[in-house]
Amino acid sequence: MDFATELLSSRRLRTECAVIGVYEHSPLTGVAATLDGALDGRLSRIVKHGDFSGRLGDTLLLPDLGGPIERALLVGMGARKSGSSRHYRRALQAAAQALLKCGATEALMTLACDAYGDIDPYYRARYAAETLLQSHYRIPSLKSGRKPKAPTLTGVRVLAATQTDLTSMKRGLLHGVGIAAGAALSKDLANLPANVCTPTYLGQVAKGLAKEHRRISTRVLAEPELKRLKMGSFLSVTRGSAEPARLIVVEYRGGKAGAAPIALVGKGVTFDTGGISLKDPGAMDEMKFDMTGAASVLGTLKALAVVDAPINAVAIIPACENMPSGRATKPGDIVTSMAGLTIEVLNTDAEGRLILCDALTYSRRFKPAVVIDVATLTGACVIALGAHLSGLMSNDDALANDLLAAGQRAADPCWRMPLGEEYQEQLKSNFADLANIGGREAGAVTAACFLWKFVDGMKWAHLDIAGSAWLGGANKGSTGRPVALLVDYLLARA
Ligand code: BES
Ligand code: MN
Ligand code: ZN
Repeated sequence: MDFATELLSSRRLRTECAVIGVYEHSPLTGVAATLDGALDGRLSRIVKHGDFSGRLGDTLLLPDLGGPIERALLVGMGARKSGSSRHYRRALQAAAQALLKCGATEALMTLACDAYGDIDPYYRARYAAETLLQSHYRIPSLKSGRKPKAPTLTGVRVLAATQTDLTSMKRGLLHGVGIAAGAALSKDLANLPANVCTPTYLGQVAKGLAKEHRRISTRVLAEPELKRLKMGSFLSVTRGSAEPARLIVVEYRGGKAGAAPIALVGKGVTFDTGGISLKDPGAMDEMKFDMTGAASVLGTLKALAVVDAPINAVAIIPACENMPSGRATKPGDIVTSMAGLTIEVLNTDAEGRLILCDALTYSRRFKPAVVIDVATLTGACVIALGAHLSGLMSNDDALANDLLAAGQRAADPCWRMPLGEEYQEQLKSNFADLANIGGREAGAVTAACFLWKFVDGMKWAHLDIAGSAWLGGANKGSTGRPVALLVDYLLARA
């Protein structure tokens, strides 16, 4: 889908479909009033006769208008004064769904024109692009038979009220397109089954990114190199699997040559059976999503490349399966991490931290300004925060606040949870430097505290996306989170 911005005053009102916001309990104003004029008062009559109330999320398609505006799609915006950025996005979603159902190949979007909800024009445009593109996302289909019809809409002109708005909105659209492309890549990878999306496959996709974007370069390390690097903790997780592990390193260089990069470490467990501490079979299929951290950091780099962001970033992805077998790591086994700390593996299902700690240690060679790990790390985080908020832990208040703010702006929110020595004590072991589990209590916090032991001297944040990364049930599938949060954070730093 192509996006363009256009000034209201230029009034090129010829379109296959004008998308028009209508506010509840209020006369037509702004663009709607202008378009009402072009439509011989049709809109005001519809509102006056009570055929469209403007209730948030309602839509009404007026087809076959027979003039330069071939169709009008009325979108309920709710009460103008209670507008918020949440309501605005709801209205956009409703518009996107209605556009999918009509046959228009081109649309004139006017919802971003109004300052409804006090939203920055940049975000009005960005949300519009993100939402429209998201509505066109389809899960990579492994179904046989006829393919569903592709959406018809290919071009959207987004109307701006002023020249200043137009300039910000142009940027907003570009960034929205980048975020949507990154989120789509992340979703595609996460939605694929684990027999397709293996560590090897993830490595190939990362190499593909380097082919596609000149600022991206990729290196994929295989097991012999991981042994040489002494990644004993990472390797202990892959031991039981027949699929070879990979450490995938993807660099995006858009900033100054010597500028310290932001390191993004993504958990890439392409399938988590739990290992010898085998999981319950109920919903075990969803453990194909246990590489969403990896998918989201790849998606984030893709987004940076699409928008040509002036920043340096590096994604580091430990990728492997967690399987039981005669060779698998057993509860009680002690392994030595790359950092030299020994770890007693009391539960082989707490494998995410075991691969992340070595990847965090590896990230030091890039002397990153900040390191952020992203992981579907604990069921405890799902219990604490549900699907709405990602868990955030950090050893740096400024970094934590930046990520919280980015999450709010990007509509991809997170919530800070604590770290603390008192929790770290739960990780004591009689046999090794630390144990890989800290008991039932505060499971999301003790998991983060485990990682905290490996990031001394670095500005670090941890995003536990176990709840936010995918939906279960009838809508089972990846959400694409937290690509929008990460890209927003990175763009704000750039
Ligand atoms: N990948 C899981 C976490 C998970 C569970 C994410 C359910 C989403 C939904 C992780 O590897 C895991 O198994 N964690 C254990 C840790 C425990 C053994 C300390 C958990 O949360 O049960
Ligand atoms: Mn596990
Ligand atoms: Zn896992």
